[in-house]
Amino acid sequence: MGTVPAVQAHGLVKTFRDQRAVDGIDLDVRQGEIFGVLGPNGAGKTTTLKMLATLLSIDSGQAEIFGIDVRAHPHRVRQLIGVTGQYASVDEDLSATENLWLFGRLQGLRAGAARSTADELLDRFGLRDAADRRISEFSGGMRRRLDLAASLITRPPLIFLDEPTTGLDPRTRGQMWDTIRELVADGCTVLLTTQYLDEADQLADRVCVIDRGRKVAEGTPDDLKGQVGESTLQVQFEPGADQAAAAEAVHRVLGEEPVLTPEAGRMNVPLPDADRAADVLVALRSAGVSIRSVSVARPTLDEVFLALTGHDVPADRSDRDPGDAPGPGDAPGPGDAPNPGDAFDRDSTVLEAAR
Ligand SMILES: Nc1ncnc2c1ncn2[C@@H]1O[C@H](COP(=O)(O)OP(=O)(O)OP(=O)(O)O)[C@@H](O)[C@H]1O
Ligand SMILES: [Mg+2]
Repeated sequence: MGTVPAVQAHGLVKTFRDQRAVDGIDLDVRQGEIFGVLGPNGAGKTTTLKMLATLLSIDSGQAEIFGIDVRAHPHRVRQLIGVTGQYASVDEDLSATENLWLFGRLQGLRAGAARSTADELLDRFGLRDAADRRISEFSGGMRRRLDLAASLITRPPLIFLDEPTTGLDPRTRGQMWDTIRELVADGCTVLLTTQYLDEADQLADRVCVIDRGRKVAEGTPDDLKGQVGESTLQVQFEPGADQAAAAEAVHRVLGEEPVLTPEAGRMNVPLPDADRAADVLVALRSAGVSIRSVSVARPTLDEVFLALTGHDVPADRSDRDPGDAPGPGDAPGPGDAPNPGDAFDRDSTVLEAAR
């Protein structure tokens, strides 16, 4: 396969009734990387992934997986990919072992091979202790791991992961991240979607941000960071603190003016990066300014999207068919939040992006 891209797509379009869910997306995923497709509810992430994975027809545009045209050769493409859905697709009444065995058989493995592959995957995904339990008794994290395990049965070189950690607790998310990194260390390429800025930041080599079916930014997380807003250091002064001296100290350290709100005894300092907060605090102390509290705020996703697109994170536009709605077995995820913006990790490292 050499250096042919794992995914190359040009001008992908998918229209549902009169809505262009995906509206001319280009993608270029290199072999061996983790590529993140980032966007809010209804942005078109799942639809994009499904077209690439031959699960939805491509209305217009063109896509190749390892150089093989998706529209012309869907069967060949299917042999090169594993797909893990946003909503786990395992049989509730079967055990983990039975599910993996069944998937193996469906993929054409012989009975013995299906059994040994199932065994190996159970160990690899830490599901050995739960091997004989019915899936209906599994936690959300166990389901996700089983779902991922199932998609690896045929050892595909390219794996699509649709929101692999939505609804998982932080520790389980961390385990999922480790698992994904291991896959890549083993030579896989991963294309994942996420609503979490910190997930893209932690995991992805490159990221594209999509909104309303269009790509609004692309680059490495570091490329994209810092282009939108910087972090802000918020300082609450003690009463009577010398605010002029504080402003001067900030100017000396950063060469920039802070925003003072004297009546509230507050100062906001834009930071080129969060590390500079310490420099500012040291300067304030040596200037003799007394401080009650400090915090470093990062831009929220709402702010990032606002900067990228000129509009807020859209309200959930997932007015989709009932058959496409989240399954009842799913852990509460961002889709269930009243305001999609609230689903994003406000306190975590925020990936900032700009056009
Ligand atoms: N089968 C369908 N029929 C009609 N509309 C659909 C269908 N699937 C998706 N859509 C619409 O297309 C748009 C994009 O949906 P998509 O599922 O790709 O978004 P997403 O980025 O994956 O969102 P989420 O983060 O909620 O999973 C949405 O407005 C959705 O309502
Ligand atoms: Mg989706």
